[in-house]
Amino acid sequence: MTYRDLRAFLDDLGGDLLRVGQAFDPRHEMAALLRAMPSDGPAVLFESVAGYPGARVVGNLVASRQRVAKALGTTENELAATYLLRTRQGIAPRQTDEAPVKEVQHIAPQDLGTLLPVLTHYAGDGGPFITTGVVLCSDPATGRRGMGIHRMMVKGGNRMGILLANPPLSAFHAAAEVAGKPLDIAVALGVEPALLIAAVVKAGPQGPDKMDLAGALRGAPVELVRAETVAVDVPARAEVVIEGRVLPGLREIEGPFGENTGYYFSNLSPVVEMTAITHRRDFIYPALCPWTADVDSLLSLAAGTELLGQLRTQMAGIADLDLTTGTCGFTAVISLSKARPSDARRLIHLALSMDKRLKIVTVVDDDVDIRNPREVAWALATRFQPERDTVILSGMEGYVIDPSCGGSGTGSRMGMNATRGSGPEFDKITIPAAAAAKARSVLAEIGSVAG
Ligand SMILES: Cc1cc2nc3c(=O)[nH]c(=O)nc-3n(C[C@H](O)[C@H](O)[C@H](O)COP(=O)(O)O)c2cc1C
Repeated sequence: MTYRDLRAFLDDLGGDLLRVGQAFDPRHEMAALLRAMPSDGPAVLFESVAGYPGARVVGNLVASRQRVAKALGTTENELAATYLLRTRQGIAPRQTDEAPVKEVQHIAPQDLGTLLPVLTHYAGDGGPFITTGVVLCSDPATGRRGMGIHRMMVKGGNRMGILLANPPLSAFHAAAEVAGKPLDIAVALGVEPALLIAAVVKAGPQGPDKMDLAGALRGAPVELVRAETVAVDVPARAEVVIEGRVLPGLREIEGPFGENTGYYFSNLSPVVEMTAITHRRDFIYPALCPWTADVDSLLSLAAGTELLGQLRTQMAGIADLDLTTGTCGFTAVISLSKARPSDARRLIHLALSMDKRLKIVTVVDDDVDIRNPREVAWALATRFQPERDTVILSGMEGYVIDPSCGGSGTGSRMGMNATRGSGPEFDKITIPAAAAAKARSVLAEIGSVAG
């Protein structure tokens, strides 16, 4: 199933979409509800937004693996394989004249805050922050397209702060700045999940065009239309597009912002001057509350599964990889089939040098359920000897939002080999299959566990 846009996906969610009719304020109240959602809970549609008559806000959109799988027209079990297969191909976008995102146009808008219900999330946040904006622009030198999610602080008037810590956009902005020119950007808000996921894939400087990746993930070309005031093509079926220019040579404090690390992070960041806002008549503004399952889930596919694919090109026997919930992609568990001690150590070195976010990796055997914290803790408790099985890498690049790096830009990384020894003392205890099946079916019948 290919979803043409965000609302087509929402229409198909049925009971997996919680409709909230009571008025909620974008200032703290919506974030409070999104934070209170269980990690596998439904998507949330706020149908009444205090101060913004007619607007709606959607959140928790991709928080569950099951919903991500649905968005890509696959199942949870097939999610990683589907992702890896599709992203190795690519489907180019196509231009269109049919552009619902242009239904309402504000050229040279004076106050974004009055037009869009941008959320203020955490108590110490310096203001409202756009957290799910897919920022689109091109390399001023080559015309190569780039996109990524970049947080943006609403500063009042027609200005926003933007955190450009990652390539390719950080590199495009640096190149424009050297030439003393502003960088044209457009920010797409309210896109279908496949496009959101493609925006945060670790593509790398020589990697594929992320718009082609988005097309491959959704199984159909993304429909693009030229923006009104900047030289950027934007998704024609987005809910909202903000157009603007990143000004050269200007930095201002952007923050504090409660980040995906669970801490506030401020930065001296570039400034965007808005030139237009276009949107659907009855637009749905997308929320992504930092440090929630929603973010974990995005990272899990775009960074975790991507890393799994890259590791498999270097080494045989890698069964699965999971980025640990709540750790902003800093911590991972990887399972190996038939591991020898040297395999686990090699894998630790490979993983820690391939992904700039990854700081702590645990390697286990494939008899461990890597998505069950109890089982991972058990493997560490019973198969891991700290002195023998720890690998520490010093003087590595630190990730900008990790407060433990102390702003130095460098840090260390650690791998733990929690794979089993060869003797039978490491065989996991099991319940006979017939008895386990009976227990499951009786419990399902009396409603204690899902079928
Ligand atoms: C939820 C989320 C928020 C992000 N926010 C920012 C941001 O504010 N600034 C930034 O430079 N990168 C941010 N990124 C990363 C960029 O979108 C990046 O281009 C993308 O993840 C590609 O990964 P890479 O830079 O590790 O190659 C964010 C990623 C995610 C998943």
